[in-house]
Amino acid sequence: VTTGAQPGHFYAVGVGPGAPELLTVQATEVIRTADLLFAPRAETAPRSLALEAARPWVDGKEVIEHVYPMSRDLDRTLRCWSEVADRVVEVCNAGRSVAQITLGDPLIYSTSAYLLGLLEGRLPRERTHVIPGISAFQAAASRFGEPLLLQEDRLLLMPATDLRAVEEALDSCETLALYKAGPNFPALKELLTRRGLATESRAVFYVDQGDRETVVRDLSAVDPSFAQSAGYMATVIVHVGRRKWTR
Ligand SMILES: C[S@@+](CC[C@H](N)C(=O)[O-])C[C@H]1O[C@@H](n2cnc3c(N)ncnc32)[C@H](O)[C@@H]1O
Repeated sequence: VTTGAQPGHFYAVGVGPGAPELLTVQATEVIRTADLLFAPRAETAPRSLALEAARPWVDGKEVIEHVYPMSRDLDRTLRCWSEVADRVVEVCNAGRSVAQITLGDPLIYSTSAYLLGLLEGRLPRERTHVIPGISAFQAAASRFGEPLLLQEDRLLLMPATDLRAVEEALDSCETLALYKAGPNFPALKELLTRRGLATESRAVFYVDQGDRETVVRDLSAVDPSFAQSAGYMATVIVHVGRRKWTR
């Protein structure tokens, strides 16, 4: 992509963690020039956070806020996104351009992945594009200035929804980045404390989302009820150790 949205093309655009300053120039150009914008909104959220981040570039544009389910029901999820896919194909085949914005990066735990999958075989590959965005774990890490990875280190990114899997992961990486950390927070804190890692664990709630942002350097200082109420928009970074050059 060099000069904004092209007629008949689809763009999955990552808008970063929430601050308009963290969109790439390419993302802003595509958003500004696309004929139609899809902005996903979780059925549990009062507004689309992706749309808030992209707000400076959407003035006067046709925007469809698409409400999607927050359930683990794959059929329901695919049904929801296939309606959007139908619309995208129709609009692109009429020679107009479409962008779907998404928080963070479109290929990391994102609704864009469903849409891109459903567009396969329906729009030519050369007419679908992914515009990368800054992921929440990168924005969260920036608050502490500590390396996520050095030398032979391994980074593991996963949701904190299955704590047995989280515990296993602690043995397979030097840095663990956890998404969806709010709802399970009390049990997660208990696990990291038991493993002697609470003081090496950082948490950021609503990073780059204005005055909602809360940065916590030491997980043992986080009030679990605060974390649970902050809910979904929590990222935890656990510094498990270092794996140095062996020679
Ligand atoms: C569905 S995933 C979306 C990830 C996104 N595509 C990315 O690349 O960052 C949602 C999870 O990302 C994390 N997340 C996204 N934006 C965040 C933010 N601004 N602050 C903290 N965590 C965030 C949270 O852990 C949240 O549960």
